[in-house]
Amino acid sequence: MYSVSFKVLVFGLVLVNVVALCNGGSTSTFVRKEEKTVDMLFDSDVFAIPPGYNVPQQVHITQGDHEGKAVIVSWVTMDEPGSSEVRYWSENSKQKKLIAKGRHVTYRYFNYSSGFIHHCTIRNLEYNTKYYYEVGIANTTRQFWFVTPPQVGPDVPYTFGLIGDLGQTYDSNKTLSHYEMNPRKGQALMFIGDLSYADDHPYHDNVKWDTWGRFVERSVAYQPWIWVTGNHEIDFAPEIGESVPFKPYTHRYHVPYRASQSTAPFWYSIKRASAHIIVLASYSAYGKYTPQYQWLKEELPKVNRTETPWLIVLLHSPWYNSYDYHYMEGESMRVMFEPWFVKHKVDVVFAGHVHAYERSERVSNIAYNITNGQCNPVKDNSAPVYITIGDGGNIEGLANTMIEPQPDYSAYREASFGHAMFDIKNRTHAYYSWHRNQDGYAVEADSMWFFNRYWYPVDDSTTH
Ligand SMILES: [Fe+2]
Repeated sequence: MYSVSFKVLVFGLVLVNVVALCNGGSTSTFVRKEEKTVDMLFDSDVFAIPPGYNVPQQVHITQGDHEGKAVIVSWVTMDEPGSSEVRYWSENSKQKKLIAKGRHVTYRYFNYSSGFIHHCTIRNLEYNTKYYYEVGIANTTRQFWFVTPPQVGPDVPYTFGLIGDLGQTYDSNKTLSHYEMNPRKGQALMFIGDLSYADDHPYHDNVKWDTWGRFVERSVAYQPWIWVTGNHEIDFAPEIGESVPFKPYTHRYHVPYRASQSTAPFWYSIKRASAHIIVLASYSAYGKYTPQYQWLKEELPKVNRTETPWLIVLLHSPWYNSYDYHYMEGESMRVMFEPWFVKHKVDVVFAGHVHAYERSERVSNIAYNITNGQCNPVKDNSAPVYITIGDGGNIEGLANTMIEPQPDYSAYREASFGHAMFDIKNRTHAYYSWHRNQDGYAVEADSMWFFNRYWYPVDDSTTH
């Protein structure tokens, strides 16, 4: 006869097993102190207007072509149009300054009138070269610099930073500082949508777009941020007469969408170093026959993994999410595009929107055809890892209610603000790390070695 304690042991082992089978990965035990997120005050130093008449402000750059030989420089002058020229020269060049000509736009939004928003594309740059550039005229000139990426190629190392849903709170400032101080040194940043959160203020107070532009200038004037549109860029407010979606965003932020044959600035692709990056639009039509659907269908077969081994997709509303917040919002886009992602072996999909952090297993959910009942995500070695990185620290606060038990598809989740790094080493390996704001700059709260799905498609799960 078995003793009572043996029966308890057996029952305990069965219970442990059940828990192991039902639950996915781990939910962090780190519990962040609850604090309200509030915007930084208007007179904060991060929002300071640079001194001088009509001096350029809100300077930002992004990639300006498909391969990384062009840069779009944008800035705002408040008092008068001034000049839309950029003067630039490469480090160590004996050549006098080169000039690129741009143009400016303005817009009105309810009772707000924008400054003069300049956009200027500098083309035919050398790869892997440091350039200085100047905007403004006479004694209100400001000078910045950037480094162009190496020529596109399969084993080119490159380090991308990742921030989503940033806003302009004290937490936002911590996130940006942590990114800037990260010893891995991001060379370009993938920004996963929801920039200023101006629309959370009365009449979508567009002054918040200006303060945000000044806040992030310290990073984005020196390295390109790759833009994704989130729901806070829609700014659709017919009740105050503003019914043109994305009006402030499209005037302020230009992207090189035509270079990838896209017909709208919300979905496009770029190549940079060894990565092919596809930006999708959660808030533009993506059903069958729509321009975005058609574009993506033609784009995916064009990806040449021999040239760019790393296939990265950026979109705002996550497909795999186990927080209560925005649960299922990405589902209709998942239904449309997930079979393509598996077929084309996308390495990783970064999303924002949910104000927390989560990393998935490689799973897919593409077997379901309404009648067969096969509707659960299953482990799939050809599927991407899905990462939610909407934890920049905006005014809406953290998402901290999770679906329990943790689903199988969820490998790691934590309700903290932070940023991440995707550090490509060569065609087979990339090191990924996520950094919560509460730790020192070099601390990794989550990490994973990514094995490339095309060149080295072995299991890289951290939990199985
Ligand atoms: Fe969002």
